[in-house]
Amino acid sequence: MTERTAIITGAGSGIGRAIALGLTVLVDSIVLIGRDAAKLAPVCEEIGKRGKSAVPLCADLSSEPGLAAIRHYVEDRLEGLDALVHCAGAYRRGLVGDTGTEDMDWHYAVNLRAPCALTQISLPALRRSQGQIVFVNSSAGLSARPALAAYCASKSALKAFADALRAEENANGVRVLSVFPGRTATPLQEKIFGLESRIYDPGLLLQPDDIAQTVVSALSLPRSAEITELMIRGMRKV
Ligand SMILES: NC(=O)c1ccc[n+]([C@@H]2O[C@H](COP(=O)([O-])OP(=O)(O)OC[C@H]3O[C@@H](n4cnc5c(N)ncnc54)[C@H](OP(=O)(O)O)[C@@H]3O)[C@@H](O)[C@H]2O)c1
Repeated sequence: MTERTAIITGAGSGIGRAIALGLTVLVDSIVLIGRDAAKLAPVCEEIGKRGKSAVPLCADLSSEPGLAAIRHYVEDRLEGLDALVHCAGAYRRGLVGDTGTEDMDWHYAVNLRAPCALTQISLPALRRSQGQIVFVNSSAGLSARPALAAYCASKSALKAFADALRAEENANGVRVLSVFPGRTATPLQEKIFGLESRIYDPGLLLQPDDIAQTVVSALSLPRSAEITELMIRGMRKV
């Protein structure tokens, strides 16, 4: 039997970590991408305990060498690819009048250009397996907010990219899913509460496992169906 493989970015923490662990019910081997090897190592260990194999791949998605390292891995080392999950994300607050264009460039590089490049790298293998692509977007990609113009614009553009890709790849049997979570209890969200000078109580928020469970269930659907978008909100409005 052929081994089933997934790649996930942002796998070392938060939502990406939870989806990586959730993917163990669907695939045999998972390539975990992040910048910080120390964050990827425990996730690899946990995947190993679940009887599946994990490969950490350290790469900065905002850099050409980072993207090249992933390209080499996919082209030279992977035998096949069944799922690609884009979860890494850049987030910085700032009023338009106070920030430079480099802020837009940074959000664009991580939140849009990197998913685009990784998708292009992976498409031949995904077409061969009639695989699936997941974009972890954000409620901010659907509804823009003050002090978040660059983040919202990059996520909104990511939705457009995913929509066009879905229309292109449907005939090739590749399913494309965009996920739009609300506030989820992750290291990023803890930082956001700090920036908002609010007390962080993770128990009141969506949990990373909630997102992972929903994504895994969408990926498990029979091939007669396709979920294109998932909007997930916490039950408590905080
Ligand atoms: N938490 C929320 O409330 C929420 C809500 C809506 C959407 N989201 C989205 O969910 C995704 C995951 O966020 P999270 O909340 O789980 O935050 P998180 O725990 O901080 O995870 C973000 C991940 O992105 C990776 N990353 C960031 N910049 C990178 C770069 N240049 N190259 C490679 N990896 C990079 C980080 O990996 P390293 O540290 O190893 O570099 C980290 O694992 C993001 O796309 C975010 O926009 C989150």
